[in-house]
Amino acid sequence: MGYKNLEFNSNTIFLITGGAGFIGSNLCEAILDMGYKVRCLDNLSTGKQANIDMFIKQPNYTFIKGDITNLSICMKACEGVDFVLHQAAWGSVPRSIEMPLYYEEVNIKGTLNMMEAARQNGVKKFVYASSSSVYGDSPVLPKKEGQEGNVLSPYALTKRVNEEYGKLYKNLYGLDTYGLRYFNVFGKRQNPNGAYAAVIPKFIKLLLQNEQPTINGDGTQSRDFTYIENVIDANLKACLAPHEAAGQAYNIAYGGREYLIDIYHYLAKTLDKKIEPLFGPDRGGDIKHSNADISKAQKLFGYEAEWSFERGIEAAIDWYRKNL
Ligand SMILES: NC(=O)c1ccc[n+]([C@@H]2O[C@H](COP(=O)([O-])OP(=O)(O)OC[C@H]3O[C@@H](n4cnc5c(N)ncnc54)[C@H](O)[C@@H]3O)[C@@H](O)[C@H]2O)c1
Repeated sequence: MGYKNLEFNSNTIFLITGGAGFIGSNLCEAILDMGYKVRCLDNLSTGKQANIDMFIKQPNYTFIKGDITNLSICMKACEGVDFVLHQAAWGSVPRSIEMPLYYEEVNIKGTLNMMEAARQNGVKKFVYASSSSVYGDSPVLPKKEGQEGNVLSPYALTKRVNEEYGKLYKNLYGLDTYGLRYFNVFGKRQNPNGAYAAVIPKFIKLLLQNEQPTINGDGTQSRDFTYIENVIDANLKACLAPHEAAGQAYNIAYGGREYLIDIYHYLAKTLDKKIEPLFGPDRGGDIKHSNADISKAQKLFGYEAEWSFERGIEAAIDWYRKNL
């Protein structure tokens, strides 16, 4: 059963941190469409005003401009909330290598503040964004929970620390936490701009502008690119997950494997562009291949990856064509 048919109490309030960002704004939209109340907490650092403007007139939507590094703001945001979907963080592996202290402050302290505020406010479930980067240098494929290697970046370390706190908060305080290890999410509203943009929106944008994208490395690296609808499914199903499944982390992906060079050629062909890519140096902090075993989330809380890469990429291209 897809997430759209899930039922919550009619007065349910969801707090979405990072709700002005890519994943957070898609969560806000899906939950508002289902008829529930959404409170969004975001400091608009990497998020966009345009991702708030689209909801601001809806009676079920409230926006709090604030920073998760401030505990009193987190406490206020959690008042009366049933479910927290914590997405606020700074992403990007290479940026974290440049500014590790900042990542510690936002991703570790900010997440701890949110967990503490959720606990003190009696929140039912605390669902938070983790990342496939926690698998670090482990060469094992597919990636399976419990088979992590050494982390390769400050970003990955922050996510691993989040997961340790998630486990501790369940065991010490009985807060039901669920860590969702997203694998290369893509879809509408993902930011195509800047040095740290994700590859899919970046390639689409450059190709649409008739510019030559640069592939880091030779393009033979592979990833389990995951369409945003699957991530929404995971977040909402986790809100209804059993208590016994709490305190753990789960792979959230499609369970497939796409090579970057193939994606590039697919995008160029679909957008009808005869543009060859440039090839740059490999990126530090990354592994060559990544794909996920998603059976744990499927089994423990009924996660369904209904959107294949092919279906998702068509929807994403369609959106960028109309909105760039
Ligand atoms: N996009 C992916 O492929 C991917 C993969 C793995 C994990 N994740 C995780 O998913 C979450 C969402 O990622 P995204 O791709 O939507 O990124 P995004 O940058 O689009 O969204 C993050 C949001 O958090 C907000 N934010 C950042 N610092 C904040 C702070 N101190 N206080 C309040 N708000 C703050 C930003 O303004 C932004 O709106 C992040 O935790 C990220 O690490 C994303």
